[in-house]
Amino acid sequence: MLYYRQRAIDQIVILTGAGISAASGLSTFRDADGLWENHDPMDIATPEAFARDPDLVYRFYNARRQQLEEVQANSAHCALARLQQALGDKVFLVTQNVDDLHERGGSEQVCHMHGELRSMLCQHCGQRQPAPPIFDASTACPHCGKSGGLRPDIVWFGEMPHHMDSIEAHLHGCDLFVAVGTSGAVYPAAGFVQLARATGATTVEVNREFSDVAGYFHHHYTGCATDQLGLLVDELLAARVG
Ligand code: APR
Repeated sequence: MLYYRQRAIDQIVILTGAGISAASGLSTFRDADGLWENHDPMDIATPEAFARDPDLVYRFYNARRQQLEEVQANSAHCALARLQQALGDKVFLVTQNVDDLHERGGSEQVCHMHGELRSMLCQHCGQRQPAPPIFDASTACPHCGKSGGLRPDIVWFGEMPHHMDSIEAHLHGCDLFVAVGTSGAVYPAAGFVQLARATGATTVEVNREFSDVAGYFHHHYTGCATDQLGLLVDELLAARVG
């Protein structure tokens, strides 16, 4: 049995946001010099934007996908992998991030609720395929062979995030909810802490500063995730009994 601050813990849900990948060199969205400081999300991250100017959208995600080739997972990603390796399916990791740094940090089970940069979706045949570093409308779908239908496999504003049934089931059943590196600016993810707290979970925020939903958290580890998350994981793993 695992104890955290004198409380028996059986199921843990961890939500991550762009802040966990910041130390790897990937831009967040809303920090100074963030992605949305240099782009209007409504010009990039909506189905309407893709219909209006597909080349701009392809270029934005191609640049972010190419950047993945130049960065590495950081110690915060590795700390979560260490926790998952120790506790197995008692940990449910859901990320808003579309990078693959959790996987490259050693996590094997990762729920990508906003899609993945390294995947592309064909609007002709509906198949998802691994994305090459660069693709656009002229790229033929490896499955159906048609071009003109491939889009980034990203959940855009106005679209339903993936795996919500599974996420909500885990939130209803968790004893500990941890949010790492997310501003709490975008729903439904920003509402997860309220749902977890309403079902009796202990809630913990790991962030460089207090987020928009900081008031819903019982405990705060304030600082860089590469420092703070290791402290939390060490505390959890040291508190196992039996
Ligand atoms: N360590 C810990 N936290 C950090 C660090 C760090 N090194 N650097 C930044 N942060 C925190 C910031 O304080 C902020 O609270 O990470 C958070 C980043 O917030 P956002 O840029 O809003 O990113 P995120 O919360 O993931 O955005 C949610 O918005 O645009 C959509 O789909 C997009 O998934 C994204 C969603």
